[in-house]
Amino acid sequence: MGIAKGDEVYKVLARKYRPTKLDEVVGQDVAVRILKNAISSNRLHHAILLAGPMGVGKTSTARIIAKSLNCSEGPTIEPCNKCESCVSISEGKNVDVYEIDGASNRKVEDARSIIESVKYPPLKSRYKIYIIDEVHMFTQEAFNALLKTIEEPPDYVKFIFATTAMDKLPDTILSRCQILNLKKIPKDIIKLKLKDIVSKEQISIEDDALDIVAFASFGSLRVAEGYLDRCISYSNDTLTTEDVSIVVGITDVQTVEKYFGFLFNKDAESALDLIKELYNKDVNFEVLAKQCIEYLLNAELQDEYKAGLLNIYYKALLDIKQGIDSLSVFSIASYKSVAISNLDKIGDVVEKLLNASLSPIIESKEESIEIKYKQQANDNINPVNEEIAKNDQVSKENNETQITSKYVEKILNEFGGKIVSVEKINN
Ligand SMILES: Nc1ncnc2c1ncn2[C@@H]1O[C@H](COP(=O)(O)OP(=O)(O)OP(=O)(O)O)[C@@H](O)[C@H]1O
Ligand SMILES: [Mg+2]
Ligand SMILES: [Zn+2]
Repeated sequence: MGIAKGDEVYKVLARKYRPTKLDEVVGQDVAVRILKNAISSNRLHHAILLAGPMGVGKTSTARIIAKSLNCSEGPTIEPCNKCESCVSISEGKNVDVYEIDGASNRKVEDARSIIESVKYPPLKSRYKIYIIDEVHMFTQEAFNALLKTIEEPPDYVKFIFATTAMDKLPDTILSRCQILNLKKIPKDIIKLKLKDIVSKEQISIEDDALDIVAFASFGSLRVAEGYLDRCISYSNDTLTTEDVSIVVGITDVQTVEKYFGFLFNKDAESALDLIKELYNKDVNFEVLAKQCIEYLLNAELQDEYKAGLLNIYYKALLDIKQGIDSLSVFSIASYKSVAISNLDKIGDVVEKLLNASLSPIIESKEESIEIKYKQQANDNINPVNEEIAKNDQVSKENNETQITSKYVEKILNEFGGKIVSVEKINN
């Protein structure tokens, strides 16, 4: 899918700069080394699993392996990228290389048609190669059907699986594959690659602006190249840090500092106002969560407090990635951040509450939550924090103390849950 730009067809950078041989795959040294050795000594396993996060080179590497094996000059770690085999693999049109999307071909019938097709030798090439992407989407039955074939395929068959979720693959499959872990690509390597691309494309861009792209891409070169595409369509002049910040939706450092300033002052309301303001400005909250983490890592805070806050923003990052509304996520994170600065006896309960997974609570908005906690008998309930003291209701009944903490409720109200009571158990 190209975008027309004048007469020529404009290819997005990620496609234009898809690596064509192992030496061009960056940031994956271990996997690349293993593959090079295996290919050059003709000992490549018949079932390879490329596992790793999105946009780090799994599909590219799978195609490179196919080219390396089937190149008219191969098997070689330097496929020519010119012969009929190489070219047709790059275009996804090779008759002996099957690219199967595991998400849409996940059923047992799909697995059976693979097993059936494995029986016939390749038409034109050395190997018949099955590249199965997102293979974790296969059903249990489909996996079971494939087991025997994966274990002992004919000599002319190679399987290359790719997945972003290795934990979802059954052990029976994992144990039959050679697993290669592709990793998130470090920022500096992403930046180097971007520098290479901008110089080839004759794009002028400030050096700091490249840092922003590398930071905001979360270790994915594809994401980084996507940002660069958008920056290029944003401006024809030299791309400044400001241009790139707008495209990426990154928040400036002063605002992040201001946000934490409010939280350290236990002023959740002002923090929330700021968040709402950013929300209306189209800020990229996934990036903001990462900026918060970065900020906290460098902040001088008491260890436990720092760890608690980091926890909160890692969780926020995951929630946003999962598609939970970023305004809710950041509201909750802001309240949590204030709450953990108030850890005392009731705070302990709050902490337990906070550690409870948010997703089920969000799903069951009607549900109320009860938390039990143990406290020394005769221990006075004496919240140190004013905010908590002001809002707590303490009642005694049958020797048990019921605490209804509005403060906790406030946290939960943000996403519709309700806490009715905190039950104290004398021991
Ligand atoms: N390790 C890498 N070396 C060089 N380029 C890379 C690398 N990883 C990603 N890229 C760039 O990103 C593009 C997409 O990479 P690729 O499709 O191989 O990623 P992927 O891991 O399969 O992603 P997904 O999990 O989303 O399918 C490539 O065409 C290339 O431009
Ligand atoms: Mg892929
Ligand atoms: Zn070739």
